[in-house]
Amino acid sequence: MEALKDESPSESSAESRGRLCRLIYKSRTSWDLLSNEILLEIAETSAANNAKRDITGLLLLTGESFLQVLEGPADEVNELYLKIARDRRHGSLRLLSYEPIRRRSFSDWAMHVVDLDDLPLPQRNMLAGKYPVEDGSVAVPDDPRLAVALLIDAKRITLSETERPEA
Ligand SMILES: Cc1cc2nc3c(=O)[nH]c(=O)nc-3n(C[C@H](O)[C@H](O)[C@H](O)COP(=O)(O)O)c2cc1C
Repeated sequence: MEALKDESPSESSAESRGRLCRLIYKSRTSWDLLSNEILLEIAETSAANNAKRDITGLLLLTGESFLQVLEGPADEVNELYLKIARDRRHGSLRLLSYEPIRRRSFSDWAMHVVDLDDLPLPQRNMLAGKYPVEDGSVAVPDDPRLAVALLIDAKRITLSETERPEA
């Protein structure tokens, strides 16, 4: 816990007050209860909910799997994860990592969904060369370090797509 007291000055006051943590889980979609429209709805309401809770993160969809990272005050992240775990629109949840952090690595969005199967071919090929592939889609790794690496890659790809200067 000592490390948590040593906050960098750039962190917000909410971050220096609360115990900041990062939670990463994977799950399998229940497509009979989920559709692209429902997924969009989840993304919209989650963005609003997460912003209120000072939670940021990213949700990846690849093949039939989800990989989500949530960062924020531990109490808020715990409460949200309990809700998400009860959601019947996905199943087979597996907690990959839960740890205190000093700084956020996924502060760009309160919630953002990236479907890896919808990325442009060069980016999909890059990911497929770096991570295991299952049924034509990048498989969500069980190794927490690899899962973080995949999330960071997806974040960078998404940011470079959205921030690409106009020709
Ligand atoms: C894959 C997946 C990810 C989700 N991520 C979030 C999230 O980041 N934030 C959120 O508020 N709800 C998220 N939800 C929805 C929650 O499970 C839940 O429906 C929502 O928080 C509303 O709960 P409430 O009606 O009890 O307030 C997610 C659902 C799924 C299936």
